[in-house]
Amino acid sequence: MPESRVQIEKISGALGAELRGLDLADGLEEQGLESLERAILDHHVVFLRNQPLSDEAHLALARRFGEVSVYPILAAMGSDVTLEVIEDTENSAPKADHWHTDVTWIPEPPKLAFLSACEIPAYGGDTLWVSLHAAYDALSPALQERIDGLRVFHDAGDEFWDSVAIALGDEQVAQIRKQVGSGAEHPLVRTHPATGRKALFVASFMQHIVGMYEDESRMLLDFLMAHACKVEFQCRWRWQRDDLAIWDERCTMHRALGDHYPQRRRVRRCTVDGDRPYFEPEAHVPSQPSA
Ligand code: SIN
Repeated sequence: MPESRVQIEKISGALGAELRGLDLADGLEEQGLESLERAILDHHVVFLRNQPLSDEAHLALARRFGEVSVYPILAAMGSDVTLEVIEDTENSAPKADHWHTDVTWIPEPPKLAFLSACEIPAYGGDTLWVSLHAAYDALSPALQERIDGLRVFHDAGDEFWDSVAIALGDEQVAQIRKQVGSGAEHPLVRTHPATGRKALFVASFMQHIVGMYEDESRMLLDFLMAHACKVEFQCRWRWQRDDLAIWDERCTMHRALGDHYPQRRRVRRCTVDGDRPYFEPEAHVPSQPSA
């Protein structure tokens, strides 16, 4: 599909755009791929209506952007499953109703996520995203200067591992933890590798700022997290069946509202592997942006 046929309509001031004129079911021409990559970099999360993709087509699309991730716990168990189905039912309440970025507790967290809406409730179950570029840009220059270069330790946390142990048993969890390692350190302000823009890289798996006392760290992280989640940095998507969302994990957080419970809601998602986050004091724009 020629680039000129792709229409882009922003859905909020901070981030998010709906794209029209791309049909992803039959694969994507090089030019369509470039338009999609450009739109993701410009808008951080993009939405396409009416994209009834098979599992294979969903994965094939993601593969155009890089290596499709295997969730670290599954990988440690020897699995190579890359597609995840999240199904909320009366007996399985929604679990993603909190601001997060996926799997920041590993050294190289995912760069992109691809989510298809398979079954949508009559009301509720919207998903929200925030722009971590907008959140960083809105801080005072004095606070930006203070936090640039700080590092944060991210870990899944005891509560998470306890819940995995309920499903798999203590022995297997101990084996898995040995393989996936114990958390990861990331910059608090992250340079986007494709655009050179700075993002406030906050996420729910943050444990503490390296080198600070516990109370100082908690106070600053709580403030920055609350700041990043302000309404003015958000967009919100009301799903229809067969919608596809693609978002940049390097500069967003997301949250799936659980207000549809106990109605059913089913989505299918995968992520693409990312690189190790870094901070570069001087923002720069690489000559060849790529998503
Ligand atoms: C997630 O990726 O956290 C789930 C998003 C959603 O279900 O809308």
